[in-house]
Amino acid sequence: MCHDGSGDAESGPESSENPSLAAPGRRAFSRLLIAGSGLAALAACTPEPGLPPSSASSATNSASATSSPATAAQTATATPSATTPAADPAAAAPGTIPASTAPSAAGPAAQQSLTDPASPWVVVNKHRPLSPAAYVPSDLVQPAVRLAVSGEAALLNSTTAAAAEKMFAAAAAAGTTMTLASGYRSFATQTFTYNNYVNSRGQAEADTASARPGHSEHQTGWAFDIGDGGGACGFQPCFAEQPAAVWAKANAHVFGFVVRYPWQFHQITGYYYEPWHLRYVGVAAAGDMFNRGIETLEEYFGLEAAPAYV
Ligand code: DAL
Ligand code: ZN
Repeated sequence: MCHDGSGDAESGPESSENPSLAAPGRRAFSRLLIAGSGLAALAACTPEPGLPPSSASSATNSASATSSPATAAQTATATPSATTPAADPAAAAPGTIPASTAPSAAGPAAQQSLTDPASPWVVVNKHRPLSPAAYVPSDLVQPAVRLAVSGEAALLNSTTAAAAEKMFAAAAAAGTTMTLASGYRSFATQTFTYNNYVNSRGQAEADTASARPGHSEHQTGWAFDIGDGGGACGFQPCFAEQPAAVWAKANAHVFGFVVRYPWQFHQITGYYYEPWHLRYVGVAAAGDMFNRGIETLEEYFGLEAAPAYV
């Protein structure tokens, strides 16, 4: 059964064309129809509820796939997890984590904002919109990686781009083809993408797969989607079984990335499993999360679960 339903809902081909807020053209509309017709295929490749795909079940992470939403501190100054000392909210500026309570392996990156979109630790979700809403990274660059897109969608912020170059090279050296399938998205592009999904599938379903404008990590330049070069299961749940996703799940943390929307954590993250969506948080934090089996940024930073818009 198709548990996720996101299909290519993440961005799909239309979002990677940088529509610049133009009304959806005939070409884009045709692609939407094609995307809609792909739902049957999705149903065929999606794991049954409660039966995670092998790549998920083989994860080294120890966090339970059925764990309940985070109930820890609700502020941006909360401690990364229950296993670290409690933070003193008064000891740090809003949106930062005191050095004394930063992730255990954070090292030199002991204090990073959870609200500044230029921070690698910014947490953006349905409860935490970008501020400013129309934020544009100042250092967008095109990484030297295999691209499946062009224009705006091929851009990342400079830190993420450098890390992506290392990761893609390592994947290639290991025999795994990985492509950049969707990178930066402006507020305008996210508006177009989200509205397309609302128009084709309704708002309730759109909200399980596509962030509303001003609520997407893609707008920060810290996140991007990967493909495998052949289009197999692109933006579909069965992408989890593809070599690029399997490799990324096991190795992305080495380069500072996490799979931001893991399997069955949608009650915390607000989105169904997106094995293609990688988020840069830095080598220390990503490694710390991996080693401690913490799957979501919300849990890691002690933030409230964000299953729906408030
Ligand atoms: N698919 C993710 C949630 C986004 O639209 O940013
Ligand atoms: Zn994404």
